[in-house]
Amino acid sequence: MIIDLVGGGSLGLLYGGKLAAAGVHVRLWCRSAKQSEELRSKGISVVNTYGETECVAEPGTFAAGIIDDFAAHWMHEPGEWIFLMTKQKDTEEVCARSAGQLAKDKSAADQLPGVVSFQNGYGHMERLAGILPGWPLYACVTTEGAKRTAPYEVRHAGTGTTWIGVPEQQQVRAEITAYAENMVKTLQKAGFSAVLSNDIDSRIYRKLIINAVINPLTALWNIPNGELLASDKRIQVMKMLLNEALAVYEACGIPCEEDMWEQIMEVCTSTAGNTSSMLKDVQAGVTTEVDWINGSIAALAEKAGMHAVAHELLTGLIKGLTIREV
Ligand code: PAF
Repeated sequence: MIIDLVGGGSLGLLYGGKLAAAGVHVRLWCRSAKQSEELRSKGISVVNTYGETECVAEPGTFAAGIIDDFAAHWMHEPGEWIFLMTKQKDTEEVCARSAGQLAKDKSAADQLPGVVSFQNGYGHMERLAGILPGWPLYACVTTEGAKRTAPYEVRHAGTGTTWIGVPEQQQVRAEITAYAENMVKTLQKAGFSAVLSNDIDSRIYRKLIINAVINPLTALWNIPNGELLASDKRIQVMKMLLNEALAVYEACGIPCEEDMWEQIMEVCTSTAGNTSSMLKDVQAGVTTEVDWINGSIAALAEKAGMHAVAHELLTGLIKGLTIREV
């Protein structure tokens, strides 16, 4: 099985490194030629939270290149799966430069690879279906924690679960299911706790709420996830955000479990020392995913004819933190 991973960030390195170390045929596509050269010469190191080596994908055991070379390479040697591991904000651009190039080629149409989208937030599957019409598209929700520490090294900050499934509105060709089972088995072989889910929409909505409560507050208060639970004032604000999101879900007819608050606390505790992805983006001065997280809750509210004032306000506050987003 050939898996093309698009994106050389923390998830790309984690999944690429562990899959390649397990002997899977991996091709990692990144933006910069410099990173792809480093990957080719140094391999990929996955280290644990103590800096000890978890696994190494040695140079020569996997391929690395720039995303603009993906389509030509794929036409020469087609792969079975594309793991899309870019940020939400880069979906259109990266897809247009990589997989989107295959969509233009009629001879590739019969053998289109399955695409698994690993993005946070909400709305990406619909946009992907627009960019890659008729493709077998899968959504992934992962609770793996990872932080890129060098262009060729990733810290595995927390072991989680990887759920992969077909969102309700997606039309995946039926025969793809066996392929998906195989792909999930390949992930398991590489050491991931991977599951083929027939309820991926619920997972997406659940993760959206968790991210909508944890990410913007850690980013605004500049604290690791566990610190959110350190004061009653912080907990009060978290509950305000949660309750507003739950009201939006209810108005939209999106089912949600009753123990969401317990689940949020559990994520804060199990990732206590982690810097949330949104705080990382704010610290790096780059565009955050707030539009697709709190902005999505606000957009869902609008669809239901209501206002999610707290989520709207937070979206503005986060965007105001980095000049680029204003
Ligand atoms: O986006 C993140 O950082 C993660 O989804 C989570 C669960 C908030 C943990 O840091």
